Amino acid sequence: MAEEKKLFKVTIDNITIEVEPGTSILNAARMIGGDVAPPAMCYYSKLKGSGGKCRTCLVEVAAGSTADPRPMPKLVASCRTNVMDGMVVKNITSERVIDARNGVVEFLLINHPLDCPICDQAGECHLQDLSYDHGKEGTRYEFNRRTFKKHDLGPYIQLHMTRCILCYRCVFTADQLTNKRVHGILDRGDHAEIATYIEKSLDNDFIGNVIDVCPVGALTDKTFRFKNRVWFLKPVDAHCECTKCKGKVTLWYRGEEVFRVTARKDQWGEVEDWICNECRFEKKKTADWIIDGPTQVSRQSVISQGHYQHLEMPKETMPEVMGGRQPRLLMDIHSVSEVNRPDVDLSALPGPAHSTDFPKQS
Ligand code: SF4
Ligand code: FES
Repeated sequence: MAEEKKLFKVTIDNITIEVEPGTSILNAARMIGGDVAPPAMCYYSKLKGSGGKCRTCLVEVAAGSTADPRPMPKLVASCRTNVMDGMVVKNITSERVIDARNGVVEFLLINHPLDCPICDQAGECHLQDLSYDHGKEGTRYEFNRRTFKKHDLGPYIQLHMTRCILCYRCVFTADQLTNKRVHGILDRGDHAEIATYIEKSLDNDFIGNVIDVCPVGALTDKTFRFKNRVWFLKPVDAHCECTKCKGKVTLWYRGEEVFRVTARKDQWGEVEDWICNECRFEKKKTADWIIDGPTQVSRQSVISQGHYQHLEMPKETMPEVMGGRQPRLLMDIHSVSEVNRPDVDLSALPGPAHSTDFPKQS
């Protein structure tokens, strides 16, 4: 008879759970779920070696183990610390942790531009969520923020280095998923940046996944850039027969149009199955896919706004009241403005749009 595996008992925020030896505090907390799970900006369960960079997952160990119940003097990174039998951990129940997390967020925001209104990651940015929970109203930082020389990463991926928090996830992704990594973190300390050493495009078959793992808007999809806000889109799960990947994706619709394709993500915002570049960038028609159904957006996120489950839409009274006529007050923006013409592809412009990009139509 197989010997029964001994499990470790760990108590996190007063909830006790049994886990296998070798489980990290973060993963034990994720098994409990909800707010007990610390935020993780650099750890990614699917990437070997990730974690230990951002310090957002700090927790207090109030008792080390049954054998040695002394508390750990310093807060520890929960993604890099394994549970011991009898360990007692405090996350949201510890004022020290909340205070430290506020500090970590303040540090992460020191050089991060507050450009959420024009950032494509807005609405699905983990740093944005974290700032709402732990950020301060103002900054105490008085120096200039970092600026960088622009790097062109090719036709699919846009790098905004000023937004990067140096979590290393994209480097691990390129290392572990593609056969030739051409980018990495160059330089040290304040000068550290994501870049290709000699100007190169990121064009490996699976490199598009760096967009999904980036917790902020440093790496975004050039084919989707500036096209829409994520909370206006409707995520739908779909699949296809793909020879390179499992072909399981989320399609982001506005009306009938697929605006972008991403990998499916779990409740922790992590990719379920990596997808290839062809599925992500080339298959933007409904006909390319077999639809599985609406994506469950359970995370407390602005994306779920407007996609309520069991929603009953109020009755549309306007056509009834108007007797079939179109209301006069509503106008088509394109009939009064030259800007935002649908025939101008904003993502194809090399920089921000100007009025000259919308020449007057005769
Ligand atoms: S570009 Fe994004 S994924 Fe890569 S290190 Fe910076 S924040 Fe992390
Ligand atoms: S998630 Fe643990 S240090 Fe970043």
